[in-house]
Amino acid sequence: MSVAVIGAGMAGISAALQLQEAGLAVELFDKSRGTGGRMSSKRTEQGEFDIGTQYFTARHSAFRAAVEDWQARGWVARWQPRLYRIDEQGLRASEDDQQRYVGAPRMTALSRNLIADIPLHSATRIVELQRSEDGWLLIDSEADHHGPYQQVIVATPAPQAVPLLSAAPALANAAAQAQMEPGWAVCVGFAEPLTLALDAAFVRCGPLDWVCANHSKPGRDSAANWVLQSTPAWAAANLDTPPQEVAAQLLAALADALQTELPEVHFTHAHRWLYARPADHQQWGALAAPELDLYVCGDWCQAGRLEGAWLSGREAAQVLLGRS
Ligand code: FAD
Ligand code: NAI
Repeated sequence: MSVAVIGAGMAGISAALQLQEAGLAVELFDKSRGTGGRMSSKRTEQGEFDIGTQYFTARHSAFRAAVEDWQARGWVARWQPRLYRIDEQGLRASEDDQQRYVGAPRMTALSRNLIADIPLHSATRIVELQRSEDGWLLIDSEADHHGPYQQVIVATPAPQAVPLLSAAPALANAAAQAQMEPGWAVCVGFAEPLTLALDAAFVRCGPLDWVCANHSKPGRDSAANWVLQSTPAWAAANLDTPPQEVAAQLLAALADALQTELPEVHFTHAHRWLYARPADHQQWGALAAPELDLYVCGDWCQAGRLEGAWLSGREAAQVLLGRS
């Protein structure tokens, strides 16, 4: 049986791996050149930065087992940051015993290794699904046709899934209900390391949500690279603010939050995530129209975390295989 999976983020990869293990012929499609979706790394003149997923946790036993396997293969590593919390009262250490993991030596190392054996059509944006007697045809933005495939899994953020689901109005309606919130992520290369007792902080005041010394993660070599992430509310109010201005504002917020003067900045790069995280928690797991051979997964069907995406992809594959 042939299956096309649209979206090579963690949900699509997870679904594709399950189906391949079950002996199905799977192909992945992604509009980007690389893989990993929001589990993304940005290569810059000052080294690589994680501009999406910062780290992940593993709570479900099946995901824990997968993470242990990835760790044994050297694709992920444990990250033990000196964690702080920053709020109106100031900074305070906020260490805990939560196990946190990162892709090594960058987040996308995980997606690259995971899909090594799965055919990937990269830089291929699917704009339409057409059902024919022989199965599904995928039409891309260059009007090229792919397929037919007997089954299709859509594994994109909810707003990008809606136009692909016109053949299944119930699925399209569910995806249309699932609102997603934006976020800005700024990479900063300082001229010298910050002399601080913290590697990362959850920020609960001002425009920042999270700040992190990228170089504190295993395998990263530059000792002065930071990632700053905005709150969804600040991003929503600054969707069209020029990237340089976003970087300047979030750097000023960092200096405020840390109550310190920052070293000279060599480099900034700001990335706007239009669909960074689901606004609400859903319990769908995955969505399915088995009579149409059409399935949908993504973090927005389960939980807005890497683990949620993996679980949702696994669920879509299990429903397709008739095991759920
Ligand atoms: P995505 O990763 O978005 O994958 C969907 C893929 O579909 C993308 O690659 C996209 O290019 C592709 N696509 C979309 N439309 C089309 C189309 N028409 N044709 C072809 N391809 C298409 N989670 C954590 O657990 N810990 C964190 O610390 C964390 N931090 C985060 C920080 C940021 C800034 C962001 C944005 C997210 C963060 N998350 C974090 C959330 C985590 O990244 C997501 O939950 C997870 O990566 C979602 O995976 P997914 O496969 O559902 O979607
Ligand atoms: P987790 O258990 O480390 O964090 C969950 C939340 O608990 C944190 O956001 C924070 O509010 C709080 N928290 C955890 N440990 C803390 C500590 N030591 N001190 C103070 N507060 C603490 O990780 P989990 O559950 O895997 O969540 C993933 C992370 O991904 C979260 O931080 C979430 O905000 C982030 N995320 C960010 C997105 C973005 O667009 N910026 C999108 C989706 C998730």
